Amino acid sequence: QMKTFVDGLIQKMTLEEKIGQLNLLTSGEVVTGSAVSTGVEAKIKSGQVGALLNMTKVADIRKAQQIAVEQSRLHIPLLFGLDVVHGYKTTFPIPLALSCSWDLEMIERSARVAAIEASADGINWTFSPMVDIARDARWGRIAEGSGEDPYLGSRIAEAMVRGYQGTTFADKTNILACVKHFALYGAAEAGRDYNTTDMSRVRMYNEYFPPYKAAVDAGVATVMTSFNEVDGIPATANKWLMTDVLRKQWGFKGFVVTDYTAINEMTAHGMGDLQTVSALALNAGTDMDMVGEGFTGTLAKSVKEGKVTINAINTACRRILEAKYKLGLFADPYRNCKGDRSAEIFTPEKRMEARKAATESFVLLKNQQQLLPLKKQGSIALVGPLANSRANMTGTWSVSADLTQHPSLLEALQQQVGSQVKINYAKGANLTADSILEINSTMFGRSLNRDGRSAEALRREALDAAAKSDIIVAALGESSEMSGESASRTDIGIPDTQKELLAALVATGKPVVLVLFAGRPMTLTWENEHVPAILDVWFGGCEAGPAIVDVLFGDVNPSGKLTTSFPQNVGQLPLYYSQKNTGRPLAGNDKWFTKFRSNYLDASNDPLYPFGYGLSYTTFSYSDIRLSANQFKRGGQITATVTVTNTGKYDGYEVVQLYTRDMVGSITRPVKELKGFQRIALKAGESKQVTFTITENDLKFYNSELKYAAEPGEFRLFIGGNSRDVKESSFTLL
Ligand code: IFM
Repeated sequence: QMKTFVDGLIQKMTLEEKIGQLNLLTSGEVVTGSAVSTGVEAKIKSGQVGALLNMTKVADIRKAQQIAVEQSRLHIPLLFGLDVVHGYKTTFPIPLALSCSWDLEMIERSARVAAIEASADGINWTFSPMVDIARDARWGRIAEGSGEDPYLGSRIAEAMVRGYQGTTFADKTNILACVKHFALYGAAEAGRDYNTTDMSRVRMYNEYFPPYKAAVDAGVATVMTSFNEVDGIPATANKWLMTDVLRKQWGFKGFVVTDYTAINEMTAHGMGDLQTVSALALNAGTDMDMVGEGFTGTLAKSVKEGKVTINAINTACRRILEAKYKLGLFADPYRNCKGDRSAEIFTPEKRMEARKAATESFVLLKNQQQLLPLKKQGSIALVGPLANSRANMTGTWSVSADLTQHPSLLEALQQQVGSQVKINYAKGANLTADSILEINSTMFGRSLNRDGRSAEALRREALDAAAKSDIIVAALGESSEMSGESASRTDIGIPDTQKELLAALVATGKPVVLVLFAGRPMTLTWENEHVPAILDVWFGGCEAGPAIVDVLFGDVNPSGKLTTSFPQNVGQLPLYYSQKNTGRPLAGNDKWFTKFRSNYLDASNDPLYPFGYGLSYTTFSYSDIRLSANQFKRGGQITATVTVTNTGKYDGYEVVQLYTRDMVGSITRPVKELKGFQRIALKAGESKQVTFTITENDLKFYNSELKYAAEPGEFRLFIGGNSRDVKESSFTLL
């Protein structure tokens, strides 16, 4: 039925109308490139537009759809896309934070809530999930993904696609998802955004491709190209990537959209003029051009000159029309702008879900002498530029959120414990000194609410508040815009003015809790040495404030675990747990620096906090691993079981992690690879058995011929609460 319908429509279309379907224009205020669309309404009328991005008001969307459906010759409805990345109006924690929950059900639900709200407001296409593996914390967009690990990243990618798209588009709350940025965007050299990437195919297939593929396997409707080059060809024009890998090897059936002006940018990449790069993109298998109007500007000419075939245009046009058909837009162009569904948006129930999600995403990095949880009594000095900043609770890509509605930490504290605890608030410092960092990180116009007083005056006020209080809670870190797109940093520490404040607070001798706001792993070596308790709250979304109070006072026991390694210093980057051993690893009894070993003169190879790490208010112990057998044949399986006991005083959640190491391979293999995890609830004193099944499939990898297979031999198996502190066993694949 779809084929007949789409065939019929394509037959009626002029070349210009077909090319028009490949055109995505912007109509909103979020401008992330050098182009802005003009004359949008006239272009819709004349059939030159297939989709719009960044339109958010349902009345406006309805009007634009009406123009397309009633005033264009063939009445083809538009798609309406938006970066609904971690929630719509109800914002959830930034994706990096969400991943630290390791709670796939909750993550899927966060995408579901986002789809319900966005669809109620007319949106039918989200540019999410972002699944780029990232191992260099300098890169600001590390905030938008699920961290460094391909296995966890894949499970999260699938969960998010399910959450956005559901099982059927007959349900009008389901919207198209778009996995991005295909491919390797997270491997930008030196963590500098939009920079070159270059890596071997075995690394691509084993470490960077899996989450994109998982999204495709989960049925993602669309794919976005990345800005970077792959093998020397920008992804947007890379035929091997867009056609051979994506379509032929992985069977992707949807359409490919470029990133913002990515076609035009190929001229700067050095690939030719606009006509040349537009033809390259289409011929590579890219279907829709975001904002740059390279396709509408040049493809007709390229057809005439024989540089592009009508067939290639028909194919791209067909893919876009099929997506619209599957979504049900031909049957009902107004599926997402009918009636008033505003009551579904930003409801108390959804905000409660966001609050719970936020509590699950926080990672307790240090808690000396059980300083946390705090008691609901006495007095607290709440200091720091992030303590009372509504604008900075939700992080990057919260384009549709109303930041004024997000309670600050101070407001939440007053609301939740204000009657029991005396709160002495002081800002203490500006987010940064009046420097280039501040200017550059307010490009999206989010105010940093600079206080004109001197650093000394601000600090004095904080020290006065501290002097009157039993405990100091310091809310410090990055502003929302210090991570995200075009927000790379060469220094990933807490900005100096805040660090100076922290040092002064620590010097008072009062107990200090650092509540760290961050969009990336940060360097916290000094903080780890001197501050007794550190809670990383990332950017927790619209309910971050209440959620932080929930955790600080023990109403919720933290359970988040890092999905990126935290370096000791920036010189260790890129850093990730699943490294290769090298030919000169440190031996078990070597000191951290040993001459002629793979290491540094001035710091050990260890991360400050390893992948998978995160504390709880309780403690967990692990029994030795019990294997059902110590060998198995291809097609067979074994199980590995541990008993995990909650040995502390609080009920809590533990993320039990399974890793393997392939001891001998036809290519070198990582020293550890995550192969499974289970998030379990344990009451104080309770024990549970946790069993993992290991099959041949879990041991497969892409060899140097890019064949995906497991190789027989010895494997080590590790189970623990993080990638470093593990129980160990071994087995053989026969
Ligand atoms: O979806 C985004 C992408 O992640 C970065 N460039 C702009 C796109 C659309 O806003």
